[in-house]
Parts: sequence; structure tokens; C-alpha cells
Amino acid sequence: MKKIRYAIIGTGMMGQEHIHNIALLESTCISVLCDPDGAMRDEALATAHKLGNKDITVIEKPSDADLKSLADALVIVSPNHTHHQLLEELLPLEIPILVEKPLCTNLQDTQAIVTAMAKRTAPVWVAMEYRYMPPTSRLIEEIASNRIGNLKMLSIQEHRYPFLEKVGDWNRFSTNTGGTLVEKCCHYFDLMCLITGANPVRIFASGGCDVNHLDERYDGKTPDIIDNALAIVDFDNGTRCCMDLCMFAEGSDPQEIITAVGDDGKLVVRMPGPDRFWPDSPTRHADISYMPRQAVPPSTETIAVDEKLLAAGDHHGGTFYQHIKFADVVRGNGKVEVSVSDGAIAVAIGLAAEESIKTGESAKIDTNDLKLN
Ligand SMILES: NC(=O)c1ccc[n+]([C@@H]2O[C@H](COP(=O)([O-])OP(=O)(O)OC[C@H]3O[C@@H](n4cnc5c(N)ncnc54)[C@H](O)[C@@H]3O)[C@@H](O)[C@H]2O)c1
Repeated sequence: MKKIRYAIIGTGMMGQEHIHNIALLESTCISVLCDPDGAMRDEALATAHKLGNKDITVIEKPSDADLKSLADALVIVSPNHTHHQLLEELLPLEIPILVEKPLCTNLQDTQAIVTAMAKRTAPVWVAMEYRYMPPTSRLIEEIASNRIGNLKMLSIQEHRYPFLEKVGDWNRFSTNTGGTLVEKCCHYFDLMCLITGANPVRIFASGGCDVNHLDERYDGKTPDIIDNALAIVDFDNGTRCCMDLCMFAEGSDPQEIITAVGDDGKLVVRMPGPDRFWPDSPTRHADISYMPRQAVPPSTETIAVDEKLLAAGDHHGGTFYQHIKFADVVRGNGKVEVSVSDGAIAVAIGLAAEESIKTGESAKIDTNDLKLN
């Protein structure tokens, strides 16, 4: 099998999760680490060496090396507001790219990347790990196979710990993240689009920053990101979706609950948060319940994820399973499953949600300019 050499652009928390998961794949290595931050470069290099990678070129910015000769795939894992500029620089190299969500932080940059795709031939995949977590993959399969009939309502709840500290505190300000509903919830809006197979048309959201970050100051400025929200999204096939986010609920177990109701039954998936935040607890597993339209006890099945995958990151194995499929694409054997257009639409829903919170009105979502030709 052809060995894939990966360049990791951005070697912070999520960059290192990618390094751990790439090490679990067959016939792969890390060949380039790129980060402007010296401490993160050193940390990532030590991690990559520990995992058996040799001959790594370490750089501060992509133009410091000939990436075309050093890497077969680029993984962009830098802060959200840097994705647009990095993509503009890296798309012309025609090396397969996996770019972390959110694609960009505003509509103008998002549209510019969609437009730039017309000139590009090598694949670009937007990282949406939540699609690939075994419990969510199972839910997606069950709904697609008509287990609950025609889907009518989909509700996603995430109650969790506050935003973690990031390098340079970039995640404290909406100008860097796109806002909490872009940064955090683009995953869930992407799941809504995938599961409904429809276009989002309208969103009404209510949210605010009520508990976290209120006492924090960065260069004298208070963070402007929200820490809780409720949002309702209407899709053009009539499906109603709902997002319930709370980021001051560290003790929540499960962390995520996804409920899908069709005209023939209901499915509920429950997922624990990362075990590293629950060090005194035994490994917790996700489960899925099927509830038909009769008053009978639900059938519930545990969805266990390999401990080795749980230890390789915070995303319940999703990063690993996504990498398997991305590696197939890099080797020319698979198809991109999360396109630039999918990533762009998820951003557009998040931005519309942030706008709805500001105006107090529902916001229309127009995805026409975000579709790839
Ligand atoms: N898919 C997921 O579930 C998930 C989870 C966490 C983070 N993310 C995404 O991953 C990205 C990084 O998040 P993180 O949590 O690792 O943040 P982080 O702050 O831990 O790491 C970001 C790293 O990027 C570096 N960086 C800054 N500008 C750069 C540039 N121009 N080129 C290269 N590197 C640069 C920083 O120095 C830092 O080391 C964000 O887009 C975030 O939304 C995704």
C-alpha cells in the first residue's frame, strides 16, 4: 500500500489529535509540522517522534518548505480565522487537503473558497468528525434505512464543559471563531443537513453569554462569545431540527443526546464526553435506543468504541474513522464525503443563527451560492 506523508498545518490540541490518529492508520507518516508557535511545534514534534515518525520537516509557515515534494496530504488544523488565507495559499498546490471545520468564519470568505474550488482538481475534505463517531454513524444508517419511517423531527443536545484555553486565546472572540454557533455547532448543523437530506431555509435562535468568560479579560477586552443557545432550523422538506447547547454543564452524562422522530418510530443516541475529563470514572460508552410507536419498552444497545481510539482524542473515534476514508481518497480509491459545499453550508447556518440571536428575528438561509458546480 502506498505510504501517505502528511503535513500538519497547526499543531495545537486538534493537530495533535490528528497526529495520534494518523499513527493508527496503515502505511502513513507525518512528514511536515507547521506552526508559528515554537512551544506547540516542539510539543507536536515530541508526540510525532514518540509515535514512530522520523524525518520530519518543522516549519513556521507553509512557504518555508516545498510542500509539494514533502507531503501527499495536508491537514489544516489552525485557528478558524486562518483557514481562508491558508486555503487561498494551499489550494493551488493541488495536494489533497483535509481542512478542519469551520471552513471559514464569515460568508464572504466561505463563498471565495467555494468559487476557488472551480479551479482545483485535487480533493478537499472538510473535517466533520461527528459524522464518523460510531454512535452517530449508526444513527445516520438507521434513519437512512427507514427504521423510523419518514424523519419529521431531529433534536441535538450538547451540554458540556466550557471552551478550553487555546494558543493565543483565539477562541474567546467571534471575529476569530465566527461565533459559538459557527465554531461549535457547525458539526451539528452539518449532521442536520446530512440526516434530513434537505436544504436549510430558516433559523430562529436565542442565546447569550450568561455564565462563562464574564470575568475574563484579554488585552482589556471581555470575550464576546456565547455560552448557551437554543436554535430551531426549518428544512425545505418540512423536517424540523433543534439545537440545544449549554457550555456550563461539566457534569452532564451523557454529553450529547440526539433524538430523531419519524412517522413510524423514534431513535435516541446518547454519547458521553471525553473520558479525560472524568478521570475517576470507568470508561463510559454510548448507546442507541429504538422506540416504536407502541407503548413497549425501548430496545437499547451499547455502542462500544475501541479504547485505543478513545485514547487517541476527544471525538469518540470519529477522527480515526474519518481519516480511514480520507486516506482512501488520497490514494485515489474513495470519494470526498464532506465537500467544501457541505462545510460552507454548515458555516452559513451557524452565521444565520448568530444573526438571529442579535436581531431577535428568524434569519433566512440561502445555500444557492454555496453549492459546487
Ligand atoms: N473537529 C473537531 O471536533 C474539532 C475539535 C477541536 C478543534 N477543531 C478545529 O481545529 C482547529 C484548531 O483548533 P485547536 O483546538 O487545535 O486550537 P489550538 O489553539 O490548540 O491550536 C491551533 C494551533 O494553530 C497554530 N496556528 C495559528 N496560526 C497558524 C497558521 N497561520 N498556520 C499554522 N498554524 C497556525 C497555533 O499556534 C496553534 O498551535 C480549529 O479550526 C478548531 O475549530 C475541531
